[in-house]
Amino acid sequence: MELSPMRIAVHGASGFTGSLVVAELVRRDLTPVLVGRDPDRLRRIADQAAIPDAEIHVAHLEDTAALTAAFASTDAVINAAGPFTRWGEPVVRAAIAARRPYLDTTGEPAYLHKILTTYDEPAKQAGVTVIPAVTDDGVPGDLIASLTAARLGAPITEVVIADLRRPGAASRGTARSMAAIMVAEQIEYRDGSWQSVQEPESTLLEPGEAEPVPMSTLALPGVYTIPRHLETPRVRGVIRSEVGELFASLNSEVAETLPEVPDAAALDAARWFMLAEVTGVDGRRARGWVTGFNAYASTAVIAVEAARRLVADGAPAGTLAPAQAFDAASFLDHLATTGVTWQVEELAAV
Ligand SMILES: NC(=O)c1ccc[n+]([C@@H]2O[C@H](COP(=O)([O-])OP(=O)(O)OC[C@H]3O[C@@H](n4cnc5c(N)ncnc54)[C@H](OP(=O)(O)O)[C@@H]3O)[C@@H](O)[C@H]2O)c1
Repeated sequence: MELSPMRIAVHGASGFTGSLVVAELVRRDLTPVLVGRDPDRLRRIADQAAIPDAEIHVAHLEDTAALTAAFASTDAVINAAGPFTRWGEPVVRAAIAARRPYLDTTGEPAYLHKILTTYDEPAKQAGVTVIPAVTDDGVPGDLIASLTAARLGAPITEVVIADLRRPGAASRGTARSMAAIMVAEQIEYRDGSWQSVQEPESTLLEPGEAEPVPMSTLALPGVYTIPRHLETPRVRGVIRSEVGELFASLNSEVAETLPEVPDAAALDAARWFMLAEVTGVDGRRARGWVTGFNAYASTAVIAVEAARRLVADGAPAGTLAPAQAFDAASFLDHLATTGVTWQVEELAAV
């Protein structure tokens, strides 16, 4: 198979999400370079993706020189090895040392916040872009918030970013990551800093539904990324309470009982749904949403398109929110080619 010269390193290529990223790179005629700690597992993924000649680099997290060398021969790095709170930072450091753009598939709030703040200066000095959480919630949530605020076109008093997916299949890797990060304290953005939430429970009207949905506060990626490009005193993240309770019930023992690869039919049938509600100082409101099926397949599409755009078009150096790196409408329109839909509308004023 003849692949394009654009070479994208996939660290954690042997995992469920990493293997989907490899397959998506092949689908897009881009060249995956598989990086990880286990040569047999990496080889198996290359064979599954029908790229038997794929370049494979075995590099352990403790071996910065090997990781850096593996990344230096590529154009960008997608990191899919979680829990990121445990394994993420050596990979960020190696990508910066190799002066290659770094993206990852984290959903872990404290890690995301740490990367955005701690690695901004080192990334700027190295002249590289770092974008964590290029996932089905991280990118659509941030981009739709930006488009919804633009529709309102007025100073903002609050942004609510909501994850409205219903309970569905999750991978063992997701469960391990959720178990690693579950904390009693939930965080929101208020008056210039990230603080404990005041209202843990709320309700939200889902588009097309008559009854309000019970929602619980969760520090979704948008809570950290949206204040980087929208001037607002408040950003709250909320998740359907039914799903939030499931996440909260996960611990490391329960995580190990989940399948490494979730049932494909269940994933294909499960809709993800990210909604942003923006309120202006004049009381006007707008909401926008993005929705698709199979959150893991969408994450692979999003991560690959984000890496491709960074390499092809460039972006400012430093840590960035998705809306700081990409044209929001153009990026979401790309997702539409894989069945994702999005829309923005004005609501009745409060
Ligand atoms: N929306 C979201 O927030 C979203 C969406 C998709 C994925 N994710 C996240 O992406 C991550 C991966 O999920 P998954 O389901 O793909 O998990 P997975 O199948 O368990 O894969 C984990 C990957 O990490 C690697 N890894 C684990 N420990 C390592 C270590 N100490 N050193 C080097 N590599 C190590 C594994 O390598 P081996 O094969 O060698 O064990 C494997 O490649 C999770 O954190 C998940 O939460 C988030």
